[in-house]
Amino acid sequence: MKKKEMLHWLDEKDPDQLDGLFKKARACAIEHVGTKVYFRGLIELSNVCSKNCYYCGIRGGNPNLARYSMTPEEILTCARQAFEMNYGSVVLQAGERRGEDYAVFIEEVVRGMKALSDGRLGITLSLGEQTSETYERWFKAGAHRYLLRIETSHPELYQKIHPGNHSFGERLDCLRALKRIGYQTGTGVMIGLPGQTREDLVNDIFFFEREDIDMIGMGPYIPHADAPLARQSDLLMPEAGVSMENPPSGLSGFRYDAEDQLRLGLVMTALTRLHLKNVNMVAATALQAIDDEGRERGILAGANIIMPNITPVKYRAKYQLYAGKPYLDEDACQCSHGLDRRIRATGAEPGYNEWGDSPHFRFGKNDLRSA
Ligand code: 5AD
Ligand code: SF4
Repeated sequence: MKKKEMLHWLDEKDPDQLDGLFKKARACAIEHVGTKVYFRGLIELSNVCSKNCYYCGIRGGNPNLARYSMTPEEILTCARQAFEMNYGSVVLQAGERRGEDYAVFIEEVVRGMKALSDGRLGITLSLGEQTSETYERWFKAGAHRYLLRIETSHPELYQKIHPGNHSFGERLDCLRALKRIGYQTGTGVMIGLPGQTREDLVNDIFFFEREDIDMIGMGPYIPHADAPLARQSDLLMPEAGVSMENPPSGLSGFRYDAEDQLRLGLVMTALTRLHLKNVNMVAATALQAIDDEGRERGILAGANIIMPNITPVKYRAKYQLYAGKPYLDEDACQCSHGLDRRIRATGAEPGYNEWGDSPHFRFGKNDLRSA
């Protein structure tokens, strides 16, 4: 699909037209990654974060939040639960922390997860920017996938939504280091950021292609009351008098509109599937925060991965990246039964006990064999 056609789809609002696009994307997913939807049980092991991204609810600078860090035993208990629920993989996610002690802590947890499952549990890390040496150590310990969203591929927009000491260039270097080390590498963006244009979004898809990315995780941007981007007029429009209800022209997405965000999230999922074909793509939880059936709709628009939250319930309210994050009070088991039903309702089959690796990683981008 040409850039012009993608731009057109990002403006399309006719439900029948959109339905046609989503059906094509689902058929493309079935052809290149199969009918199955694979699970990655998500363990949010700590909300401690040394960064201060302007959009994020657990940013280090948010004082309205009690910080927690799970113990290795708690993390391993969670991982064992995931294994017993027949989830093929887990994702360890946390705010960003660095340093030797932390590197060792994660290394040992990864080894522990491998040991408790005879090496059968797939391990994805989502622990932010680290040195290449740390990435290598975690890889040797048994982690084989890494998620690091670029957040937006537009360097100037990146700078606007992050404090001055966050660097687009360094983040990109991290992504490239992960690939070099041998991780299945995932990235993604937030959709509908203040100041983000339709063209930026299409360029994000070309960025995934250029960087030869194996896995995509992207979802709508959802404001969080404790994050400055939710009061974006302060940040992007220093002149007084610009209100969120009255966005200046040229700042599309300036006014938060949940329905628009959902549509854009689904269209981006479909366009990315149709363009990249054999990557793994997650049906984002942020879609679910906007629409009760958001993740199912993500699958029907071309996604093939689900990340059920298996973090202990007592910690969930403290890991609110954005407002309205779902499943704050549901325990892991209830969640998994519901999910099985929801996935089957889309016509897809849950892929239990399988890693469900990205065919893009296994075969490369030019080998588009059918699943
Ligand atoms: N809305 C949507 N996604 C968010 N993230 C952080 N804050 C928000 C928000 N307000 C996403 C970022 C990050 C991932 C872990 O969560 O893309 O990479
Ligand atoms: Fe920290 Fe990640 Fe939130 Fe940024 S997005 S503040 S790195 S948890």
